Amino acid sequence: MAAPDLPRVLSGIQPTSSSFHLGNYIGALKQWVAMQEGHEVFYFLADLHALTMEPPDPKVLTERSRGAVAQLLAAGVDPERSAVFLQSHVPGHTQLSWIFECLTGYGEASRMTQFKEKMARGSGDRVSVGLLTYPVLQAADILIYQAHYVPVGEDQRQHVELTRDLAQRFNGRYGDTFVVPDAFITPESKKILDLQDPTAKMSKSLPDAGTLNLLDDPAALARKVKRAVTDAGSEIRFDPAGKPGVSNLLVILSAVTDTPIPALEADFDGQGYGALKNAVADAVVAFAEPLSKRVHELLADPAEIDRVLARGAERARPIAEATVRDVYDRVGFVPPADV
Ligand code: TYM
Repeated sequence: MAAPDLPRVLSGIQPTSSSFHLGNYIGALKQWVAMQEGHEVFYFLADLHALTMEPPDPKVLTERSRGAVAQLLAAGVDPERSAVFLQSHVPGHTQLSWIFECLTGYGEASRMTQFKEKMARGSGDRVSVGLLTYPVLQAADILIYQAHYVPVGEDQRQHVELTRDLAQRFNGRYGDTFVVPDAFITPESKKILDLQDPTAKMSKSLPDAGTLNLLDDPAALARKVKRAVTDAGSEIRFDPAGKPGVSNLLVILSAVTDTPIPALEADFDGQGYGALKNAVADAVVAFAEPLSKRVHELLADPAEIDRVLARGAERARPIAEATVRDVYDRVGFVPPADV
């Protein structure tokens, strides 16, 4: 089993829209950035996964992938410390995925919550086989690097559970091969809620008014925050069950200003929702505006983005190849002879 000196961290994000949203940042990317310290980190764009719903126009996918890299870098992912790469640049992911597909029950895959939800939105033949096997590819993404921690939001917990099950299943059948990884999910920021519907998670598939996109212009961000649905009463208190809208705004404010929630509760003691919304709007704009500017600067040099990706894949590929060789050997494939 590969045993890196530092604990290994792996995570991925899909380039499925032109901008990540604040849920992606607070739930995942902020932890990606923090975990660059004291860990060996691998972060990739799940461009293969991005084909599982309605495959985008090829040009759009290319553009979104480069745009996604720029957003990761602008958010603080440092390509010197992190291997930043595209899933499609490391063929081992799909090679390993096949092995796990053969170890996953059909029923097991079809019981995944995200599959069922997406299935409910599509219909019949428009639901691809790739959507069913999506979490199996995700397991391969993680296990191929022998990752110890997977920083993700709550919606990915079940996929990491499946990953653990598959690692244990393979290890049980073929001998100790894979590190069994842990999801790294931060309690307060694991599920940022939609601003218009605080019972749902913030998501690119919900109407735009409830989603704070990192690349939205400042006026749009401020407007969305000011129109956020809040709760009955007027007290500003962190109470996710009783006051989901207000608590969500507190979590956002806490994340973008690095201020603990109790300190914010104390600051807003005796003030109304209007004051909280103004503060959140200002803080979100102060966070997103420079990030957005940096993204545009980075995108002015797409060749440099491609070089970052090439260097990242170069770091990832040897590890992925070694895992695939070991797995092929263990399952009994005849090794190719030297000729
Ligand atoms: P994706 O692209 O949907 O989301 C990227 C990350 O953002 C988190 N997230 C949220 N966190 C808090 N609140 C929200 N409202 C919110 N919305 C999204 C997600 O939990 C995720 O961490 N299947 C993955 C991509 C993937 C992956 C992997 C992740 C492919 N292979 C291997 C980890 C390891 C996905 O679709 O994430």
